[in-house]
Amino acid sequence: MIETSEKEVNEEHALAIKRSQVEIVCPGCRSGELDRVPFNGNVHCRKCGAAYRVNGTIIDVLPEYTVKRYFWHDIVEWDFFVDVYESWFWRSGPYGNIVFGISFDDEFKLISNIHQIKGKKSLVDIACGPGIYSRPFARQLNEGTVVGLDLSMPMLEYASTKAQHINNLFFIHGDAQDLPFFENSLDGANCCGALHLFPDIPRTLKGVLRVLKPGAHFTVATVKVPNIGPVSRKLSYWYHRYGGVKSFVPEELERLFGEAGFTDFVCHHAVRWWTIVSAQKPG
Ligand SMILES: C[S@@+](CC[C@H](N)C(=O)[O-])C[C@H]1O[C@@H](n2cnc3c(N)ncnc32)[C@H](O)[C@@H]1O
Repeated sequence: MIETSEKEVNEEHALAIKRSQVEIVCPGCRSGELDRVPFNGNVHCRKCGAAYRVNGTIIDVLPEYTVKRYFWHDIVEWDFFVDVYESWFWRSGPYGNIVFGISFDDEFKLISNIHQIKGKKSLVDIACGPGIYSRPFARQLNEGTVVGLDLSMPMLEYASTKAQHINNLFFIHGDAQDLPFFENSLDGANCCGALHLFPDIPRTLKGVLRVLKPGAHFTVATVKVPNIGPVSRKLSYWYHRYGGVKSFVPEELERLFGEAGFTDFVCHHAVRWWTIVSAQKPG
């Protein structure tokens, strides 16, 4: 058996950023492109020279996050949660299936079919968490690049380690509400398990629309109000107000997507606490 040295793994890992087909906009000057070859552990803006730390395959464009913190911020940074998140105990197992009304494998198939991903050049997995979507997307995309973006550094470190041998996938520590990509530049966007956590959903949707190419799809899996009457609606309201976690009825998502400028809204799944929807950028 041929052992792969740590140096080889790191080099292979770093290639994901160098070979990337995704251009990252400098969050400082908002117009320059970030260089793809790290120098002294940073990538630099070609226009203003600002430096952003690179850790493995993670580019940190968010050194500080100033938005109000809720309990779930600590949960998604808790090592134990990060380690078990995509395992049988939650996202890939029977408990997840009960809550979501669909297995992870079926959810992934549904979503990747919407994107018709083969042959595409670029896809962003917004709020990628441990990379449960990003890795299979990258394998399917083959020639193109997948970028996983998330707010939680522990999640990204786990995702980056798990993706060590996938050289068309890299990660950005950033905010979904302020995507660091050029206008009309990406072939698809996915956001599963997180839209309900963003403080400003209209702004996020408009931002996603801006960076997608005309005709590109945006897929979302998010929390649904389990239509069991006024009590559940009241609980959803308090959960949002005090926990920062929103839940939707599909009609509200359709309205929000429409107001942001998306067309062809489709609700593919709305069972128990989970809904999966998609829409397109007109083009
Ligand atoms: C429940 S996990 C979802 C992980 C994965 N996408 C999935 O489908 O299982 C939610 C993720 O959203 C991320 N998140 C929450 N708010 C965010 C924001 N404003 N920008 C980027 N990521 C965010 C959290 O850090 C967390 O990793």
